[in-house]
Amino acid sequence: MLEIIIKKIEMNYLNMNDKEIKPVINELNVLLADYSIYYQKLRSFHWNVLGKNFFELHNKFEELYTDARLKIDEVAERILTLRYHPVSSLQEYLQMSSLEEVSPFIKDTEMVGEILNDHKKLLQQMKTALDKADSAGDEGTVDMLGAYIGELEKASWMLDAFNKNTSDQLKISDTISNS
Ligand SMILES: [Fe+2]
Repeated sequence: MLEIIIKKIEMNYLNMNDKEIKPVINELNVLLADYSIYYQKLRSFHWNVLGKNFFELHNKFEELYTDARLKIDEVAERILTLRYHPVSSLQEYLQMSSLEEVSPFIKDTEMVGEILNDHKKLLQQMKTALDKADSAGDEGTVDMLGAYIGELEKASWMLDAFNKNTSDQLKISDTISNS
């Protein structure tokens, strides 16, 4: 009986266990910090890119930061939906995130490489948060992050293709090479 009462107290207004939700919040806040550093880096690259790929990359960086801006808001609002305050200061973002600020005075292909590297870190953090959400039975967060992962992987493919040479080749599956 006592166990049932304690369990009831631990449940939040969405009928989720608040103790289990806390690790999800921690990871979502790190993701929010990662996305915020990534967003500002893209703005910097959008402004400072030079060279013959200017038009293409200037637009691509804008497309990516516009998408990041939406996701920053969605992640913060997911944290609020779970009834916690999202971290919102730039100082804390810099402390919490594994992403690092870089000089804007780098070559265009280095900018693309930098963004690809940030995608790797963002994907890793999304998977960490998704695992915690899965353990907590937080399907709303699982769904949101699952969609983010697919979208970011697709954006990574395009940036990776941009940084390849026309003579480069991808892997060929066994099924195709044996037939
Ligand atoms: Fe602009």
